[in-house]
Amino acid sequence: MVHVCVVGAAGGIGQSLSLLLMRQMPYGSTLSLFDVVGAPGVAADLSHIDNAGVTVKYAAGKIGVKRDPALAELAKGVDVFVIVAGVPRKPGMTRDDLFKINAGIILDLVLTCGSSSPKAVFCVVTNPVNSTVAIAAQALKKLGCYDKNRLLGVSLLDGLRATRFINEARKPLTVSQVPVVGGHSDVTIVPLFHQLPGPLPDEATLAKIVTRVQVAGTEVVKAKAGRGSATLSMAEAGARFALKVVEGLTGAGNPLVYTYVDTDGQHESEFLAIPVVLGKTGIVKRLPIGRLAPSEEKILKAALPTIQKNIAKGNEFAKANL
Ligand code: LMR
Repeated sequence: MVHVCVVGAAGGIGQSLSLLLMRQMPYGSTLSLFDVVGAPGVAADLSHIDNAGVTVKYAAGKIGVKRDPALAELAKGVDVFVIVAGVPRKPGMTRDDLFKINAGIILDLVLTCGSSSPKAVFCVVTNPVNSTVAIAAQALKKLGCYDKNRLLGVSLLDGLRATRFINEARKPLTVSQVPVVGGHSDVTIVPLFHQLPGPLPDEATLAKIVTRVQVAGTEVVKAKAGRGSATLSMAEAGARFALKVVEGLTGAGNPLVYTYVDTDGQHESEFLAIPVVLGKTGIVKRLPIGRLAPSEEKILKAALPTIQKNIAKGNEFAKANL
């Protein structure tokens, strides 16, 4: 059965994410937990839940240790890594401000995990996602195991937010998934409300909803007032996303997800959040973005230079540090 490893499992996102996975992973699965502080406690705690169908394993890392042998050992035989390790934003910071710390963290973790399980699917939650996915790709290329269909940036929280906000505005009409493409930071987040069935709010109201989706992460950072960024909603998005990956890998289905991935030369950007179909080998099909309203076309066009800059920054960092 499937083996999922949460890297950063004792943090704000990691704990809730691990709980959600524990409750929903298929019978016979293994859930491995890694963190530099607190992993044994989270593992002990989770393993008292009466879902004996999921085996819980853990490894305790050490702060500052590179290519941690404990992680290298735990990472053997893993099918899906969900990487949430890293520092969160404080009020006044952008996601890009996290680059300085999180770039090194993601590089080291992907090198360690990729060495142990080169065929695994990597789901990257660590911010800034627009750059960390590029860093992860370079790390996997260095290991000689890069597969453009097995590296996925988790941008699903933008979809959850867009869905929530439009459903609130169109009550009682509801949809279950709003397409969101582009990247995972402010102006790079492009919700495609015009692809939804049914009448939309007027353009001014819709524009406000688009902006709210784009700055929703900052809304949470401000509300948490120095105590981090979104953890619960991000855990929900991360768990839902990882379970879709599991659904594909195990042959249970071929779900459609929006995710920040290698575009395989199909777009102006090396990486972009696009619709893809998942299956037994990760991404089995990249789908067209579909019809864009003129306003959406404008936002996507404006997003591209920022995404390209974020990717270049990640690539340069990786090349200088590999
Ligand atoms: C989010 O969208 O909530 C996350 O990317 C965290 C953040 O810093 O905004």
